[in-house]
Amino acid sequence: TIAVLDFGSQYTQVIARRIREAHVLSRIYPYNTKASVLKKDGVKGIILSGGPSSVLLKGSPRPDKKVFEMGVPVLGICYGEQLMAHMLGGRVGKSEQREFGHGTLKVAKKGKLFAGLPKNLRVWNSHGDRLDKLPKGFEAIASTENSPYATIQDAKRDFYGMQFHPEVAHSEMGMEVLNNFLVKICKCKREWSMANYIEESVRQIRETVGDKRVILGLSGGVDSSVAAALIHKAIGKQLTCVFVDNGLLRLHEREQVEKLYGDHFDLDLRVAKKANLFLGRLKGVSDPEKKRKIIGNTFVEVFDEEVNKLKKRGNYAFLAQGTLYPDVIESVAIDGNPAALIKSHHNVGGLPKKMKLDLLEPLRALFKDEVRELGSELGLPKEVVWRQPFPGPGLGVRVMGPIRKKDLDVLRRADAILHEEMMAADLYYKVWQSFCVFLPVKTVGVMGDERTYENVVALRIVESVDAMTADWARVPYEVLRTISSRIINEVTGCNRVVLDISSKPPSTIEWE
Ligand code: XMP
Repeated sequence: TIAVLDFGSQYTQVIARRIREAHVLSRIYPYNTKASVLKKDGVKGIILSGGPSSVLLKGSPRPDKKVFEMGVPVLGICYGEQLMAHMLGGRVGKSEQREFGHGTLKVAKKGKLFAGLPKNLRVWNSHGDRLDKLPKGFEAIASTENSPYATIQDAKRDFYGMQFHPEVAHSEMGMEVLNNFLVKICKCKREWSMANYIEESVRQIRETVGDKRVILGLSGGVDSSVAAALIHKAIGKQLTCVFVDNGLLRLHEREQVEKLYGDHFDLDLRVAKKANLFLGRLKGVSDPEKKRKIIGNTFVEVFDEEVNKLKKRGNYAFLAQGTLYPDVIESVAIDGNPAALIKSHHNVGGLPKKMKLDLLEPLRALFKDEVRELGSELGLPKEVVWRQPFPGPGLGVRVMGPIRKKDLDVLRRADAILHEEMMAADLYYKVWQSFCVFLPVKTVGVMGDERTYENVVALRIVESVDAMTADWARVPYEVLRTISSRIINEVTGCNRVVLDISSKPPSTIEWE
């Protein structure tokens, strides 16, 4: 294992992830973890992460001094470098110029760290302090314009420090530098894989859960599906999944979930059929925020009811969630550090406390693409692992204005056609999202010899990397033509299809 001591950097999880990419097992520890604990865990190298603090500040976070006496290699990144230098007898001062963004790293001595790499590297910096004096035994092996000590080493003890961030994608050859540290310096074997991750998680889940039981709210989306599959692998029928049919699902969605999880995975699946309850409460409501609130609150209520029913039957002690690292943006709590904030998952934020259940979040350390890899490894089909995002309030925010059952049916059938045609054109997995929106606007049309007066469906097809910004996808006219004519011909209740060509911002992806 490589231990990453977390000093609150926004990049800590990225470091851990890069190590996994290099096929080496990594674990993140709180910054003040005792050296004895690390020793017991058989740690082969230690990385001190960056962090928002300054070693010049009193009370700034420090590692156990003994980590420098363990006889294992240490790599300090940014704040980690300054810490190491400071604690080993060097001097850190304020830099005249804060260094942010790209800089050129000039390598003077390659050593093991830069072995096989070019002499000049474009690297990514983000720091205010800089080293003024090296500790005993150290030498500078690379510099930037701003800092003569951009990379330092004590080759005897295998201590290394760098001011730049090798873990971020903007650092040229950053991955190779980390690789050198892992393989040439820590002598790690590159044999870790997602299969190991599953093994390790399964062990941890079993250990945590013991003979108790776990409840998971299954939405059918990527995250909850992968969490379900992983936990199921670990504890089988000790896991119960609750799927709520809120009447706002897509065509055949509930049946698909029942088939895949109930039949194929043989999971203990409970389906709460609550369409009437949700649609009843939504009757006549057209304000988007009110709709979201009603749907959210009703979900909590229904889920709570299911939990209570289950609790009467068995020792349910855990609520599992498919929370991913980007949902968490979590950091160690460091005194006075405003960056140490914890964001709870927006969909189920209010649930656990009231239910008196402990949280089980086996995907917390992973990024989305890793979760997908994990899902495939667990045998989930591509349609689940690579499915497009779908909002919690479902079709409730895709029928504009008050929600009526017959309009939902029109939307569902149109949406299924769009899905089919996106698949057929090999575009479904290439765009971020493709869905239909139901407009409560009626327009005149003509079908055969008859005049029609029916509703409009809008196509929303966007490209995006993170949903923060998005652009409408340039879908070929021929594909659009097929989609439009199929919807108008096959879906009674819709006689006009329009295309949404708005980007985000200023528009949003969803219409409500
Ligand atoms: P907007 O419409 O804000 O959507 O551009 C950004 C992304 O978030 C999804 N979305 C939601 N996801 N619960 C969710 O889990 C919600 O209430 C919700 N609202 C929007 C949307 O589909 C898009 O991918």
